[in-house]
Amino acid sequence: MLIKKASDISASEITPKGLYLNRRAFITAAAGAGVAAAAIAGFRELRSPSEVAHANAKIERLQKSSFSTTETITPYKDVTNYNNYYEFSTDKYEPAGLAKNFKTRPWTVNVEGLVKKKKTLDVDSIIKLSSPEERIYRHRCVEGWSIVVPWVGFPLSELIKQCEPLGNARFVEFTTIYAPNQMPGQKIPVLDWPYVEGLRMDEAMHPLALLCFGMYGEALPNQDGAPLRVVLPWKYGFKSAKAIVKLRFTDRQPVNSWGKSAPSEYGFYSNVNPNVDHPRWSQASERRLGEFRKRPTLMFNGYDQVASLYSGMDLKKDF
Ligand code: MTE
Repeated sequence: MLIKKASDISASEITPKGLYLNRRAFITAAAGAGVAAAAIAGFRELRSPSEVAHANAKIERLQKSSFSTTETITPYKDVTNYNNYYEFSTDKYEPAGLAKNFKTRPWTVNVEGLVKKKKTLDVDSIIKLSSPEERIYRHRCVEGWSIVVPWVGFPLSELIKQCEPLGNARFVEFTTIYAPNQMPGQKIPVLDWPYVEGLRMDEAMHPLALLCFGMYGEALPNQDGAPLRVVLPWKYGFKSAKAIVKLRFTDRQPVNSWGKSAPSEYGFYSNVNPNVDHPRWSQASERRLGEFRKRPTLMFNGYDQVASLYSGMDLKKDF
């Protein structure tokens, strides 16, 4: 895989220009419907495209994936300026600016727990493990908004195989970097830092589970989880941990950050499920960034191929 610097490529060349300003329309519509309290709290002027720091490395030789949706891709500007990244801020408009100087190299990922041999992997050697693919996935946030993103990565299973988990490893836990000097949100105890997430092994090995290091054909912007995150399109967005520094294989279900903070609101599985409401709001529909209308939310976010992973489970109990 070749990565070259392309600081001369602006977001406006990639994003359909006419869609830039739709974000304001989305926020207005969301406010009217009383849905996006957090978005309203963060309401402010749009940044102009030229203000978006955009000097990422272009990722070449990208393979197209048969798992990609053909739905309209959400503009780059929205996906990179409206982020949930509590290590930086609880305001969705702030991670883009606050993460600008976040150091993503050197970066290592520790492999611990039930593995043949504990090891430390350099992020660039991880990225080279397999050929990069472009996967256009729907992504549904638990708060009721959704996006369609051309992620770049390869199946998470490729990294897991490299980690050589033991036969009794039933779960994998992901831990995000703890760097309060770089991440101002970590100085505030909104969550018990560092951010932790986890998956059952069969979920992690499912071909849809993506290890991600890029988007829109370029290296991942810091606010979207550089240098390495997971993307799990059938689960609510908070399962897709950003800035991963540790994989721990275990025989016990990990305690994830959101589950720890509000267990009645955020389950371990957190599969997108229009039939199980969040205690404080319905999950039956969603609003895609850049659109006015609401659309029905689909079971497993429309990714029916994962249904067999949960056969026999009561998804109202194991939400
Ligand atoms: N990962 C870390 N480390 N910290 C976070 O706050 N937020 C999660 C998830 N991963 C989060 C995280 C949530 S709630 C969502 S919806 C997605 O990241 C948002 O990803 P995006 O900003 O790339 O759209």
